[in-house]
Amino acid sequence: MIKKYGTNSRNHESNNIMKECTRVVSFTSGKGGVGKSNTVLNTAISLADMGRSVLILDADLGLANIDVLCGVTPKRSIKEVLEGKAALKDIIVEGPMGISLIPASSGVEYLARLTHSQRLTILNEVESVAAQYDYLLIDTAAGIGTDVLFFNAAASEIVCVINGEPTSLTDSYAVIKVLTQNYGEKKISVLANNVQNDAEGRRAFNRLAQVTTRFLPTKISYAGAIPSDISVSEAVKQQSPVSTLFPSSSVARGFRAFARKLDEEFYEHRVKGGVQFFFQQLLEGEVFSG
Ligand SMILES: Nc1ncnc2c1ncn2[C@@H]1O[C@H](COP(=O)(O)OP(=O)(O)OP(=O)(O)O)[C@@H](O)[C@H]1O
Ligand SMILES: [Mg+2]
Repeated sequence: MIKKYGTNSRNHESNNIMKECTRVVSFTSGKGGVGKSNTVLNTAISLADMGRSVLILDADLGLANIDVLCGVTPKRSIKEVLEGKAALKDIIVEGPMGISLIPASSGVEYLARLTHSQRLTILNEVESVAAQYDYLLIDTAAGIGTDVLFFNAAASEIVCVINGEPTSLTDSYAVIKVLTQNYGEKKISVLANNVQNDAEGRRAFNRLAQVTTRFLPTKISYAGAIPSDISVSEAVKQQSPVSTLFPSSSVARGFRAFARKLDEEFYEHRVKGGVQFFFQQLLEGEVFSG
């Protein structure tokens, strides 16, 4: 098992240390299609609107989505970095509201099953550029594949996105269970997306919390609810984030509230210095080798 807490990577002789004030937050869900990518993008937009600098890592490496969602067409992606054809700083593209994006590739099969050394290369490269940002948000792929677990375990905070459906709750439980049992995660935030209202979000969260409290040592906390809103699919069709296209929609307001809540803890995290990739732990991890 990889111990994530209890050791601080700053205590290790590692060069891979990010500036203390960069918060690394990954978004996961188990089940696909619950709204991770839209959440990452619109949270980034809301944080940028509050004056924060934000870098997104599209870690759904073989099925790029964030670039499509914000209408940018990157010429190069993480593929060129892994193939030694580009440095990571040279593939970063600018999106709406001045957010920065590390683009993934689409339809490149090997990117969906990286080797351990390729994963570490990506983290190493990302760390070298992320220090200049306030936030690094990681959009992970669906499922509980090794890459998904790796990028979640590398982040210092994890947000699990759920919706009200039973399959979303069982799949979220599965991902939380693996992150807890295999990677020592102790604390995960849960954001309910695509729900009618806060009451429905809380009900879904409570159902998940009942099972996690009973069977896992992990503490899960409710991060809020993003309402179901037709504006999202309209924005997706127009390849523009809903927060910039329809800033007064209920969903845009929901993302702003979530971003404000996330950012309330910014200085707390900064003071604690709890912001870095957990490289040492990942390097020691036998689970990821292969
Ligand atoms: N709050 C919402 N209201 C209405 N529809 C939504 C909402 N959030 C997401 N959707 C719908 O769900 C679709 C999938 O969203 P998104 O691509 O963000 O999910 P994902 O979890 O990243 O999927 P994947 O697991 O495939 O990466 C959107 O295109 C949109 O149609
Ligand atoms: Mg996605």
